[in-house]
Amino acid sequence: MADVLENPGLMDKIVSLCKRRGFVFPSSEIYGGFNGFWDYGPYGSRMKRAVENLWWHEMVETRDNFEWLDSTIIATPTIWKASGHLDQFSDLMTDCKQCKSRYRVDQMEDPTTCPNCGSKDLTEPREFNLMMKTFVGPVFDDEHVAYLRAETCQPIFVDFHSVRVATRQKVPFGIAQIGKAFRNEINPRNFTFRSREFTQMEMEFFCDGEEGMEWFEYWKEQRIRYYREKLGFTDNDMRIYVHEKLAHYAKAAIDIEVKFPFGWGELEGVHHRGTWDLSQHSKFSGEDLQYFDHDNQRKFMPTVIETSVGLDRTILALLSKAYDEETAATKKADLDEDVRVVLHLPPLVAPIQVAVLPQSKKLKENAYALYKDIDRFFRAEYDETGSIGKRYRRQDEIGTPYCITFDFDSVNDNAVTVRNRDTMLQERVNVTQLRDYLEKVIGI
Ligand code: GAP
Repeated sequence: MADVLENPGLMDKIVSLCKRRGFVFPSSEIYGGFNGFWDYGPYGSRMKRAVENLWWHEMVETRDNFEWLDSTIIATPTIWKASGHLDQFSDLMTDCKQCKSRYRVDQMEDPTTCPNCGSKDLTEPREFNLMMKTFVGPVFDDEHVAYLRAETCQPIFVDFHSVRVATRQKVPFGIAQIGKAFRNEINPRNFTFRSREFTQMEMEFFCDGEEGMEWFEYWKEQRIRYYREKLGFTDNDMRIYVHEKLAHYAKAAIDIEVKFPFGWGELEGVHHRGTWDLSQHSKFSGEDLQYFDHDNQRKFMPTVIETSVGLDRTILALLSKAYDEETAATKKADLDEDVRVVLHLPPLVAPIQVAVLPQSKKLKENAYALYKDIDRFFRAEYDETGSIGKRYRRQDEIGTPYCITFDFDSVNDNAVTVRNRDTMLQERVNVTQLRDYLEKVIGI
């Protein structure tokens, strides 16, 4: 596989494959698109769901001290006052008076010159708040203004007390949520990397402040291990950025960065947020969100360790790492066309894990019955159109790790041929062993 950063034009190729094969395409496309908004098609949404399920399983289902939450996207605006978003969640922007382009000052190489037309006639930098605004109720005035959540974690803090009481959890414990977040990004770019509507997978871990740094280290290690073991990232394509400039309430923060086609970019943040969030919501709501530790007869405001990752960025990172073009010169086996486009996706998150392909349409009945059987346990697809070679290519392009060919011999020996996407090697497997075999190679 080529290194992501040494593959010029990779982003264009990924965008094109995503459109062609139904992973991701622009929202409102037949109207010319809508900047910063993306729709996930049949394969993209399967992959998204697979990543969500993997994260949820890893963070919540395998742990006793974790709770679920599904909060609203719109809530009282006071939440965003308390969190600081209304006052501070903004970018410093400047406009070019000549060509009317708008830029984030911190992203300009030279803040005195327009990168588009070269003019030096720029406006004084101004703050633009990133919160998405709407109105709730029949009157569209200042009193009815509300905001779409800019991060999924704030409702977790607001609901902390209710969740804890309902579940009788003791500190330390965590609350996780997967859901949409919205930011009025001034300059959405790099495909889905910076969107205006995106999905976050966030977990807030509530602990005693004295143990805060230990838990921070624990979660940092857990998350790095997850990327290595579950998603296949290596030291070559993942690195840790340690924040030196911290928010006044934070004790430590790191970003997990991975290689995107445009360079290194943040995928996830692990943050020690201290007692800031619960203290702010206690202050603004008047509800005491402190925790009473019965064992030690002690009341305290829990410290929070957060892990926060964008689902869309995870998908883009996986596609960037997986995309490959093989030519006859680089791979000899089963090439009947000049270039094999293949996504080497981890089988756990590939949109289709197993494709069932009858050697001939005459074998449809048996092959389809086998597909229905497999489909109960794996994300599966049935394809009978075109030559076997073409069908393999189709599956390679969407990252299907295993193709099963049902041939004329299968009718008699009850065995099928399993073809591996990456090695292109083929193995004969008895149908009675197939489920065990696939579970093992897929890593379920
Ligand atoms: N609660 C902490 C928080 O929201 P953040 O660094 O602003 O922190 C966390 O966002 C993650 O959400 C990022 O690491 C990134 O993966 C994702 N994210 C943030 N802004 C995004 C955007 N405009 N488009 C896509 N993903 C975004």
